Amino acid sequence: MTTTLFTGIGELVTNDPRHDGTALGILRDAALVVDGTTIAWIGPAAQAPAADLARDLGGRAVLPGFVDSHTHLVFAGDRAGEFEARMNGNRYEAGGIRTTVAATRAASDEALTANVARLVSEMARQGTTTVEIKSGYGLTTRDEARSLAIARQFTEETTFLGAHVVPEGVTPEEYVDLVTGPMLEAAAPYARWVDVFVEDGAFDEDQARTILNAGRAKGLLPRVHANQLSEGPGVQLACELGAASADHCTHVTDRDLTALADSGTVATLLPGVEFSTRSPYPDVRRFRKAGVTVALASDCNPGSCYTSSMPFCIALAIREMGMTPAEALWSATAGGAKALRREDIGRLGIGSRADFAVLDAPSYLHLAYRPGVPLVAGTYVGGRTG
Ligand code: NIG
Ligand code: FE
Repeated sequence: MTTTLFTGIGELVTNDPRHDGTALGILRDAALVVDGTTIAWIGPAAQAPAADLARDLGGRAVLPGFVDSHTHLVFAGDRAGEFEARMNGNRYEAGGIRTTVAATRAASDEALTANVARLVSEMARQGTTTVEIKSGYGLTTRDEARSLAIARQFTEETTFLGAHVVPEGVTPEEYVDLVTGPMLEAAAPYARWVDVFVEDGAFDEDQARTILNAGRAKGLLPRVHANQLSEGPGVQLACELGAASADHCTHVTDRDLTALADSGTVATLLPGVEFSTRSPYPDVRRFRKAGVTVALASDCNPGSCYTSSMPFCIALAIREMGMTPAEALWSATAGGAKALRREDIGRLGIGSRADFAVLDAPSYLHLAYRPGVPLVAGTYVGGRTG
């Protein structure tokens, strides 16, 4: 196996507190050696061992690749008009999902695949090396299964979200039967996770419990769209079922926060949604005080938030949600890995996967300090440079 020595790393974020006693585990003037797809050595540049190849990064910062643990990339069309209406004062409503459902059903496999490829490559250019992708714009057995089959071409982290909204032409009861029956049967081979949008206008607590338990019986792991538009039962249900993550958590009670902390369910915050729907941001200080583990993700979708940029989400989380820069970076890397129950990503250590982003900047701080500036010089995943 060829070994490569990376030198000239001005700041190396490892997410291993043993290096400096902080969660980010920062090393300065560092070097790392990659052996094939694995990190073989990390430490001060002055002590770096020899390797077959050498690359000098010229003082740039290196961090674990971003883990975007919540996206909806399998769709056709866009809803720019809806965005304009919201910026002109209209409220976000879950019903807009049906517009994208119609466009997605009408699209060819090739068109849907090309759209996912476009967005995944857009993400990679902004430092994302792991992406979760949900279905949820098909809402028929055929369209949910093909959405997940397409998503699977890009990631192992695929989520069955047949329970996004109830489509036109069926009753909620009929639809829950479909989602927990033939649709789940067809979707399960392509999915790792099962998700439900728990909200007024989408699915209630009992329906969600039924659907998540049916998914679990098929071997899928639960995660939940919870408390996005209002306080409600989503967070408590996620905690009750041992979900890896409760996502959104825009409107949470103190009881919800206690349940998250006690169950270990990660709260995945999606600040791009609050930005794009002109909604109030959750206050991270409450989550911190309660001892909740927080992840950050983009929620990239054509309705509530059409950004693919984790740096943008980091900047928003710091500026609008009260995160420190260090917390935001941790949540976008190690936090995302926890939300996906992954040990092999979101950190850089000897034996872990070589999976990192290089910034055209001396420190990760520049991600928020220079908002909107494309600072990712490239990514490196298991021997592949992007
Ligand atoms: O996570 N909340 C439900 N689903 C998406 C929005 C989907 C849409 O508006 O098309 C979300 O925000
Ligand atoms: Fe979502």
